[in-house]
Amino acid sequence: MAEKDVRILAIESSCDETAAAVVRNGREVLSNVISSQIELHKLYGGVVPEIASRKHIEKINQVIEEALLVAGVTLDDLDAVAVTYGPGLVGALLVGVAEAKAISYAKGLPLVGVHHIEGHISANYIENKELEPPFICLVVSGGHTHLVRVADYGVYEILGRTRDDAAGEAFDKVARAIGLGYPGGPKIDRLSREGNAEAIPFPKAKIADAPYDFSFSGLKSAVLNYLNGCQMKGIEVNRADVAASFQKAVCDVLVEHAMLAVKESGLDCLAIAGGVASNGTLRASMEQACAKNGIRFFRPSPILCTDNAAMIGAAGYYEFKKGVRSGLDLNAVPNLKLGER
Ligand code: KG4
Ligand code: ZN
Repeated sequence: MAEKDVRILAIESSCDETAAAVVRNGREVLSNVISSQIELHKLYGGVVPEIASRKHIEKINQVIEEALLVAGVTLDDLDAVAVTYGPGLVGALLVGVAEAKAISYAKGLPLVGVHHIEGHISANYIENKELEPPFICLVVSGGHTHLVRVADYGVYEILGRTRDDAAGEAFDKVARAIGLGYPGGPKIDRLSREGNAEAIPFPKAKIADAPYDFSFSGLKSAVLNYLNGCQMKGIEVNRADVAASFQKAVCDVLVEHAMLAVKESGLDCLAIAGGVASNGTLRASMEQACAKNGIRFFRPSPILCTDNAAMIGAAGYYEFKKGVRSGLDLNAVPNLKLGER
């Protein structure tokens, strides 16, 4: 007998996107609504936590209503509510968590708290129906840079992580330094297409005895020093060359570490996830390296790489299937570690 469909309403509000989605059986997205606050935070050059929380409160009901409408369902058609409860900005997370608890209580629906990074990883399941653990996943977002062995659904072994800045953070800081504004990643991605990636040899950090760990703060300083040097010598900066050379330095390290992790793990499968996974150069160079090394390569569409709720619905489904349930005492955990509950 066919198993009954599981329809999950998923909510994400950990940073500056208010998002809701309805996902069927973990991999079929019935709706994926995202209300971005980028225009608002742009004025300040980055996310202002207090403003983010207030905007989430204003938007969340509207976003959920739209997600239900687009999916053609009502709250009565749902089987569970999944929500990001960490890591992220505490005030922002609390809005989603409170909303999910209210719906769960009012409708008697099971509640599933989801780890934000588990969501990013699970975004890969949505468009790649054949992808199943085990595989290696490189998670590169604004707050995290992790190389993870996905041993099974919801079972993660962290192989490496950044020692300082996250990859996305480095993109945002370098973008600010060359006057591109917030958010920097997509702007560097675009500008770099007009530049020469070989123009400036920026350093690629390696950490002794920790081949899977990353460090991006030295690279960021090298870019700042280069810009200062140009200013002092009265040389005009070619911003496109800086963007392209910086991006190449980041992507080269990410590709090298990911290739090593796949090879040493004995697996033949790599996925990438998180906002930086939407970067054109990273996607192209990772694809090329995987093809060269006989590795199956998976990546979500760009819209599923940056923050969204469909990925929370995918992750929530596998937790739900395992019997994971959160109580109405679920709280926001701003520094939640991957693999912890
Ligand atoms: O995953 P995400 O949406 O939020 C977090 O969980 O942090 O990632 C946001 C980060 C930002 O740092 C942004 O600049 C970066 O992802 N990003 C990019 C691109 N699109 C977003 N970085 C490089 N290239 C892009 N195309
Ligand atoms: Zn994220």
